[in-house]
Order: sequence, then structure tokens, then C-alpha cells
Amino acid sequence: MRWLRKTSFANLVEKSWNVRAGTLGRLAVTVLVAFLTIYHGVQFAGYDTLLLIVKALLFDAWHVSGTLRCSRIVFRGAPRRPVTASDVPVDFLTVWNRKFNSPAVVDFREDYLRNCQRTTRTLSAVVSSNRLTSPGLGLGSNINFVLNLFLLAKDAVAPRRNFQLYVVDWNYVSWSELFQDFTAKSPCSIIHTMDPNAFQSVNQSAQTFDLDSAWQVRAESANDDHLLRELNSDGYWNFYQQLTAYEASLPNGVTFRKKSLLARSLLDLQPRLKDVLGQIWSNLVKEGAVHIRRGDKTVTGESINFPISLYVRALRRLCHTNPGRCSRIVYVFCDDAEVCADFVNQAKECFHVTDFRQQVKLKAILPWSERSPVEFRHQNQFNSLPAEERLESAQEMIVSIYLAALSDFFVCTYSSNVCRLVALLKHDNIADLDKDILSLDWSNWIMV
Ligand SMILES: *[C@@H]1O[C@H](CO)[C@@H](O)[C@H](O)[C@H]1NC(C)=O
Repeated sequence: MRWLRKTSFANLVEKSWNVRAGTLGRLAVTVLVAFLTIYHGVQFAGYDTLLLIVKALLFDAWHVSGTLRCSRIVFRGAPRRPVTASDVPVDFLTVWNRKFNSPAVVDFREDYLRNCQRTTRTLSAVVSSNRLTSPGLGLGSNINFVLNLFLLAKDAVAPRRNFQLYVVDWNYVSWSELFQDFTAKSPCSIIHTMDPNAFQSVNQSAQTFDLDSAWQVRAESANDDHLLRELNSDGYWNFYQQLTAYEASLPNGVTFRKKSLLARSLLDLQPRLKDVLGQIWSNLVKEGAVHIRRGDKTVTGESINFPISLYVRALRRLCHTNPGRCSRIVYVFCDDAEVCADFVNQAKECFHVTDFRQQVKLKAILPWSERSPVEFRHQNQFNSLPAEERLESAQEMIVSIYLAALSDFFVCTYSSNVCRLVALLKHDNIADLDKDILSLDWSNWIMV
């Protein structure tokens, strides 16, 4: 049944919705096709995703000829044109600080800096280009891995350890070009950028570890002052499952709240990127956002190729069920330019779709405004691009993630790490996610 995973299958689902057989006939054909795709094509979360799709299609079938029409959607205000500073109700830095520099974040950072000098024991995450053959290499998955290990260092491991991140010849080039380190000036700084040779000695003086069933660390030897885990290293899948089990063992929502705080504290955008974000944000002023993840995720069967029309429908459904709260402007980001173009085509009847390229051109933001977009379909292709292009692409992705976190509404798939990261930045309470995030697939993904 491998053929079911091919990209063209998404079109089949879409086509089946368009067969001329009346609404019920269309529904039956589509459900059958969707079922076969998901049942045979997706390793994880098959049934739950199927149920979600059926629910969405039923909703649409009920409303499709009437209320879901574009003309029936009540949008918020008139479509915004580029605005002058005086038009913007609140300035960007106020919005930024409210969301990402909240008192809880400030307290967390101060507390970390106050306590970190009490111990020299460490727990480290390692991201490097050592494992380029592994599929789990997207930027979002790197960041989520780092947050997971930060959580372990703080909460699971007794006594508490200082967290460190080693960035060794990374395929996204430089963590520090993306984020500032709030611990940079302290003796227990978190971010360490190293070349592979310098990292050798760090690597040798630290132990790899597992978690036991009581969520205690099990190191390879008794000398466990320094522990580390490298993303995608040997036995990583096993470790990942231990991590998931640990998070699932906590009461619902506890992990989410903690990770949301860690994300805001650790992922402080570099001033230059914050400025780019601010310029685009001020231009859009609270847009909707859509992220479409395809590429290797669908090839490995972790996720399915949802037809683009399902994203458009989801957006319309969101706007339909939240009258007067939706912006007509939608910011879209994809891992495949063709997919994005397809979305623009299908959504333009209802929405003004914009993207990073359009915005940087409009605002003449260098270097992006003068470059053609970095094109890649698969992670391996990305990893062979020149470092400069990889860094610019990573920065673009990060700015898009923050735009989505500041958006009115966000449509995505939780099987994508980008979608989960936006969720962590958007809300600190898991119960709030449904208010403005609509995932086309399994919501339990949010736990990992
Ligand atoms: C650290 O050491 C382990 C075991 O020798 C090795 O497999 C791994 O590649 C090293 N990591 C890096 C980033 O060099």
C-alpha cells in the first residue's frame, strides 16, 4: 500500500469530493478514500485524524451551500491596507512584551540566574549536523527537542541541573543568529556554539542517559555530573518514547504550561529579527495564519497530505463560527512553494493571502527582499544548500512562527513541530488552544 502515500493521493481525496453524486454520495466517496489513505498511509494517529476529517466534512456538508459561503462570512472591519504608525492600535513592542516578556517569563529568568550557580551538574541537549541522514531534522523538531531537554533538566532530574545547549556544526547554521541567550552574561550560560573538534572533549566527559520508569535519570556510569542527549543519536527513538511517557504521566496540561514558559524564556528573538517581525506585524495588524507541512513528514507516514481545500475550508469554518473576529488577511507559510501557491489560488476568493516574500518586498527588508526564495523540497536538499541560504531560510521560518503566534487564528497540523511550537508561544494554557488554533490532525500530538 505504499502507493497510498504518494503526493498525488491528496488530489484523489480532493477529486472524490468533487464527484457528481449529490452531497451524500460525495461524502461517502470522500470518507472511503480518506479512510483508505489514513488507515494505510499514516503510522500514527490514524483513527483520530479520520474522525476529525469526517467531523469537518459533515459540518461543511451541512453548511456548504449556505453559511460557509465567502459572502456570508462577517469579517472584522475593512481589509487593512499598509498602515501608518498612528493607525496601529498598540505598538509592536507592547504586544511583544505582553506576550513574550510577561512577568512569569521575567521571574523565571531571574530565578534561573539566581539558582544556577548553586550547582555545577549539567544536562545538555546537542544539536549538530552529525545525523543528517535522519528524517527528524526540521527546525521545529530541533527547537522542540531543546525545550524537552530543558524541561527534563529543570523538573525531572533530581537534584536539579543546569541546562546547556551545544550547537555543533548545525544545519541551521547558528542558534545565536536566531535567539538571544538570557544567561549569556552569567557563569552558567546555556548556549554553546562549537566546532566538532572542540566538542569532542565535552562529549567525552559527559554521559548519555535514559529515563527509568520513575522518571529518574539512568546514566551509563556512576559519574553522572554531566549528562547529554543528542537529537537523533543512537537509541533516540527509545528515549523519545520515555520522554513522551514522562510528559503524559503529568496531569493534563501541566507539561504544556511548563514548556510554554520555557519556550518564551529561551527563544528570545535576536533584535534584528524582532525588528523584521515588528515591521511585518505592523503592516498586517493581526492577520490569520496558515502553515502547511508536507515534505518528509508525509513521506515517512507521520502525517498525511491533507488536500489544500481542507485548509481553506478550515479557515472558512473558523471565520464562520467566529463572526466579526476574523481578518481577511491571511499569512501563509509552507515547506514547499508550489503548495503555498496552490493555497493562494484556492483561498483568494475569500481571503487576501500574503506571505513572507511579499512582506519583505513591500517593506524592502534586506537581505530577503533582494533574494529569490530558498527552494527545497526535502530536508536533505536543504542541508546541501550554502550556509548563508540555510540561515536566511531559518530566520524566515522563525519570523513566520512568531507571526503565527501573534495571529488572530492559526490553521495547521499538530503533527508538525512548527504547529506545536506556535501553540506553545500562542498560549500557556492547553484549554485555550481550541479558541484560535485549528489543527487538521490529531490534537494529542500537542503532548510531545
Ligand atoms: C559524541 O560521542 C558519541 C559516542 O562516541 C558519538 O556517537 C557522537 O557522534 C558524538 N557527538 C558529536 C556531536 O560529535
